[in-house]
Amino acid sequence: MKVHKFEKIWMSIGTGSLILFLVILGVSAVHAGHTPAASGIETIHPDYVRDDNRFSEPGLYESSEEGYDYDLYYVASAFRYEPAEVEVPQGSRVRMQVVTTDVVHGFQVVNTNINMMVEPGLVSTYGTNFNTVGEYLVICNEYCGVGHTDMTSVIKVVPEEGDAEDE
Ligand code: CUA
Repeated sequence: MKVHKFEKIWMSIGTGSLILFLVILGVSAVHAGHTPAASGIETIHPDYVRDDNRFSEPGLYESSEEGYDYDLYYVASAFRYEPAEVEVPQGSRVRMQVVTTDVVHGFQVVNTNINMMVEPGLVSTYGTNFNTVGEYLVICNEYCGVGHTDMTSVIKVVPEEGDAEDE
């Protein structure tokens, strides 16, 4: 079979780049430990969620994390959120962490861009500012069973202490 010279060059470029990319993939998988799962996500065993200090009594706590005023911990389970209600001072920078003890839930705060999937085994984290006073409804947007629509919680953003009570 006669193969044209340029055809040969073109074929070897194709084969060469395929090998190059496979080598890069192989090195990053074995050497750097990359996996298809996103890196940098904290894991937690769904059966031992309650053994974790943060989730034994979920709620609002002062944050030790740089750049945050508060940590807000939630435990999602069929079919409720804990805490069912929480007050957050206006203007605070909050790191939210949500875990589930059973199935996948969809943690969504209505009228905000807070929306994260909560998967068994993972700690879902989201940093946000609560600048506007008001009541924010937390819902579940991932079908999780018969009580799915009852899965709600309320975040009350209240004026900072010393401010007038009116908005
Ligand atoms: Cu939890 Cu739907």
